[in-house]
Amino acid sequence: MSIKEAYCRAHTNIALIKYWGKSDPVNIVPTSSSLSLTLDRFYTDTRVSFQAQLDQDQFFLNGQEQEKAERDKISRFLDHFRQLSGVNYRAQVSSYNHVPTAAGLASSASAYAALAGACREALDLDLTDSQLSRFARRGSGSATRSIFGGFVEWSQGSSPENSMAIPIDAANWDIGMVVIAVNKGAKKISSRQGMAHTLATSPFYEEWVKQSRQDLDEIKTAIAQRDFTTVGQIAEANAMRMHATTLAANPPFTYFEEETLTAIRAVQDLRAAGYDVYYTIDAGPNVKILCPASQMTAIEEALGQYFASEKIISTLPGGPIQILSEWTYDN
Ligand code: ADP
Ligand code: DP6
Ligand code: CO
Repeated sequence: MSIKEAYCRAHTNIALIKYWGKSDPVNIVPTSSSLSLTLDRFYTDTRVSFQAQLDQDQFFLNGQEQEKAERDKISRFLDHFRQLSGVNYRAQVSSYNHVPTAAGLASSASAYAALAGACREALDLDLTDSQLSRFARRGSGSATRSIFGGFVEWSQGSSPENSMAIPIDAANWDIGMVVIAVNKGAKKISSRQGMAHTLATSPFYEEWVKQSRQDLDEIKTAIAQRDFTTVGQIAEANAMRMHATTLAANPPFTYFEEETLTAIRAVQDLRAAGYDVYYTIDAGPNVKILCPASQMTAIEEALGQYFASEKIISTLPGGPIQILSEWTYDN
């Protein structure tokens, strides 16, 4: 019996310059480059086991076997690795999210980065991390960036072959993130649907892409200078512009919920009180606050006036994918 198996952990990442639209939806090539911060606290552990005797792929998430649509997504992703390696075995994939699934906290990013990392290891593929990020991209765009730790750029490239991640800075300076998880439930409109609908119908879309290019140049300069305040200001503005495109879509929609606005106001209050805090929001209602790591505890405490403590989760920047030497889960 022949088995090729490996386990990998990948951390989620939160974009400070957002990816919001595809120029090539089949190969997941974005309309603009993006930049993120990998987070230590939120991650996915994935085991892949290619086995000669399996007659179809199997996919378990958090211990539960998933239905056909989810399994088919995984199969299409594994096909890229089967093609590259010449190994045609079906696989069992088992994955555990240490992040809420489909809630706008980037589970698809850690998910596909972990699966890509596990496949490279199991199939003994000779791929650099940047080359691997091209494969992770085929599962979910944001997964491109989760191969690396710290601040990471996803350079849009001009074709599927050169659209990949580049590590920018280890973020091992005074950087932290406080997440306000206002709703951990699954969103109604996936990131994939939301961005496609916006690109197709929002008159603000083109302007968003143009402005985002400028934001990226400016934030890279600010990161190089370790200018935290400028990084925060650019990230906040970039996120709000992305959400503005959804308000102008036809029909319009928003990922914001009531408590999203409460969290935004809380950040504004904290800023007025002297904290160096900036918010960003992805395709979901949850709010992520970029702050100096040294202020994280005080900020958590101050947020206690607005939110129950179980909704507030602090994290430091996270590292790159890592191969796990043992599998501690049930399947
Ligand atoms: P999020 O904000 O969590 O990234 P998305 O809508 O982008 O939300 O992606 C959620 C989808 O990602 C899920 O519906 C599922 O298809 C996929 N996904 C999430 N976690 C995993 C995992 N551990 N393994 C494989 N696929 C996953
Ligand atoms: C708002 O990577 O989840 O979080 O490529 O269709 O799987 P697909 O979408 P996904 O989109 C993330 C959108 C975002 C911004 C970002 O992470 O850059
Ligand atoms: Co996602």
